[in-house]
Amino acid sequence: MQRSIGRSNDVTLSTIWERLDAQAGRVATRPLTALFEDRGRAAAFSVRFAGQSAAAAATDAEEMLFDFSKTNIDEETLELLIELAIAAGVQARRDAMFAGRRINETEGRAVLHSALRNPEGKVALDGRDVMPGLRETLLRMRGFAREIRGGGICGQGGPIADVVNIGIGGSDLGPAMACLALAPYHDGPRCHFISNVDGADAADTLRGLDPETTLVIVASKTFTTIETMTNAETVRGWMAARVSEPGAQFVALSSALEKTADFGIAPERVFGFEDWVGGRYSVWGPIGLSLMIAIGPERFDEFLAGGAAMDAHFRSAPLRANLPVLLALVGIWHAQVQGHATRAVLPYDQRLARLPAYLQQLEMESNGKSVTMSGQAVSRPTGPVVWGEPGTNGQHAFYQLIHQGTQIVPCEFLVAARGHEPELARHHRLLLANVLAQSKALMEGRGIKAARAIAAKAGFQGDELERQARHRVFPGNRPSTTLIYPQLTPRMLGQIVALYEHRVFTEGVILGINSFDQWGVELGKELANSLEPLLAGGARHETLDGSTAQLLDFIAAAG
Ligand code: F6P
Repeated sequence: MQRSIGRSNDVTLSTIWERLDAQAGRVATRPLTALFEDRGRAAAFSVRFAGQSAAAAATDAEEMLFDFSKTNIDEETLELLIELAIAAGVQARRDAMFAGRRINETEGRAVLHSALRNPEGKVALDGRDVMPGLRETLLRMRGFAREIRGGGICGQGGPIADVVNIGIGGSDLGPAMACLALAPYHDGPRCHFISNVDGADAADTLRGLDPETTLVIVASKTFTTIETMTNAETVRGWMAARVSEPGAQFVALSSALEKTADFGIAPERVFGFEDWVGGRYSVWGPIGLSLMIAIGPERFDEFLAGGAAMDAHFRSAPLRANLPVLLALVGIWHAQVQGHATRAVLPYDQRLARLPAYLQQLEMESNGKSVTMSGQAVSRPTGPVVWGEPGTNGQHAFYQLIHQGTQIVPCEFLVAARGHEPELARHHRLLLANVLAQSKALMEGRGIKAARAIAAKAGFQGDELERQARHRVFPGNRPSTTLIYPQLTPRMLGQIVALYEHRVFTEGVILGINSFDQWGVELGKELANSLEPLLAGGARHETLDGSTAQLLDFIAAAG
């Protein structure tokens, strides 16, 4: 059986996992609060990352702080986790990825999205320098974005006022998440996103837009995705009803140049990328065009620079001070050692409202696997369910379960020390007070004594006091991490996104799986293709299962 690049033998790995299991047993009942008797704990179980270039350092401090001290990881646990990362070959595989080796072994592809954010870097794939092509596309994107923003390229009715990005999965979530995140930097046309094949998405998005001043971006790496192609045809029809040359207001972001030509998009309006950029890692290149048009090429460069700074850190920092590695090890400890099946991503940053959805694809499409690279069944649970909503909204919805439910949900808080609305300073103060309160409440909880005092104060007595008090107990000892940064700038967003990418990579290497394929999305696509003709009145296949047949009958009757 072939072994993946740099990986130690399985015996070494399973011994370390066993030692981690034993460690988990040892610390299971230890209160988190007890760990803080060590006054140096907060600093020791945190890492700071100053990703700024030397030139920017004097004016633009961009240091982020990742605090994982409110978890029950101690020095011994951390040493074991680092031993695990080393034995799994994280460093060797990381270096193989950056060197352009084909580490996506089931698809025979390299994984080089990091090259997109370092256009002046050097990367060769099978001896071929990939950078000139990448730089040429980036230059064309910049030129095009400037023309659209400056009115040099217009629609039939004048300067472009609205941009509609049609794409799904990685061809939607990245730019949609980043456009919202960087709203304070928008000084270009408004951006809209259509992804769902549900016609409601196109209908609601197009309502109120003027086809004569709208630019349409069809974003699809393969240019075959049924949702995107259906939406693209619908939007072309919408435009053709008012615009004499609709093709002139269409752009394609794709690696499938023949297919974009068949769709009628001129080659100079196609921005391509190669198969070494996976869909969920593609916001850094042409798929980010809507973002570049919204915030301008210079700000987009800052976003890239943030990602590149995180790459440099990931490649060079010792594992004990390496932010993506530590974030991954915390994830492994919670999901694979302690068995917590989900993790919540909780941005106290309204403009990161789409980050949980973005991370759902990044993490769950990457690490939701059941076989190892060599095709054997995995021996540990793989990627946890990732979910979340911005704070403080979530507090008034699902935090009840996080605080008092029977499942432990490790929480990952994100927050900016400064907002973009100095005139609304109190809002931000309240936001900060809430995020600090949540991680503290999760850790400390509230014991029965304090709960009894509260019940007594509310006027309860005797048995009723005891009953009421029990409902007011918080078990505490629930783990959380906090990623805090000065402000959500383009550069900071780049750092955050690259941080999570490398976290997913590191976890995938430790689990011995391929984080870069997504075979699990194929079966549903195939079945949808075979069911569509039945919905259009085609003959029923006799072997159709009873439930699906019943649902088809219901649809026909409602028809
Ligand atoms: O359904 C899975 C997937 O292939 C994702 O990985 C990808 O981001 C998305 O579909 C969209 O693919 P494309 O860009 O080829 O339309």
